[in-house]
Amino acid sequence: MTAKVLFSQTMSSVYDQNEISSLYRLFLEDYLQVSPHVHLYTPQDELNSIQMEKFNKGLSLLNQSTPIQYLTQKAFFCDLNFKVNSSVLIPRPETEDLVRIIYDIHQKKRAENLKILDLGTGSGCIAIALKSQFKKASVIGVDISQKALDVAKYNAEFHKTPIDFVLEDLGDYRSDLTFDIIVSNPPYVLESEKVLMHPNVLNYEPETALFVPDNDPLKYYKAIVQSINFGTLKTRSLFLEINPKCLDALIDLMKPLGAIEIHKDLSEKKRFIEVNI
Ligand SMILES: C[S@@+](CC[C@H](N)C(=O)[O-])C[C@H]1O[C@@H](n2cnc3c(N)ncnc32)[C@H](O)[C@@H]1O
Repeated sequence: MTAKVLFSQTMSSVYDQNEISSLYRLFLEDYLQVSPHVHLYTPQDELNSIQMEKFNKGLSLLNQSTPIQYLTQKAFFCDLNFKVNSSVLIPRPETEDLVRIIYDIHQKKRAENLKILDLGTGSGCIAIALKSQFKKASVIGVDISQKALDVAKYNAEFHKTPIDFVLEDLGDYRSDLTFDIIVSNPPYVLESEKVLMHPNVLNYEPETALFVPDNDPLKYYKAIVQSINFGTLKTRSLFLEINPKCLDALIDLMKPLGAIEIHKDLSEKKRFIEVNI
């Protein structure tokens, strides 16, 4: 049996055929580091014994719903390649929409020294994608997880996008700067939504990056608003990724700060709140 047939047969209980083809390509290229052309298209695709051992290990991990990005340690975000591991959330396509919205609104200021703060930076994907577009901006990324910040620092060095990373609870972070943009994609999935989630998210991605208690779903947004109200954080604008289920409550929370705009993600969900203060 060829490696490809073995892969397809094993994965067919977990993924559909289209997903299997793209998974196989990533699996070969980024995980096994062999050319996809040889092995995808040559009928007698054979792997040597070391590759076969790695192949079997990877297959078994994928079969247990380990996300392919954790196997390859790679994820793409805004056309950039990011290192990821189990300490960080795998960057999501909807978060690319958030970066795109900020870019569209601020693109005329590309030559300015904008001050940008990313709260809950994780892999650094938002901060790095923005810094790569706004090259003169000063960018700070804050996270409560040192392991996440280690990954973010690696990514910032890889992309040559100098960013200051700070280990801090986002509610305690203080700055004398007046930011042009504070952006945040904080944890916002309700504990009660766990039952709806795929095991490859639930069992592998860090809990601290995902969940909020059902009895306090806005806790991170409240912390940001409180810091702005206390004057310990100053900003001209806020861009927040949200749980669409909490939209009305978030509008009520944000309204006293300034003018609100709601933006949709590409699947037409009301996913982002912009506040101009
Ligand atoms: C939903 S993830 C977003 C990661 C990344 N910004 C992205 O969009 O892919 C939320 C991040 O917030 C961090 N986090 C959770 N609680 C935090 C807190 N109290 N203060 C700062 N960061 C926190 C997590 O470690 C995680 O990296």
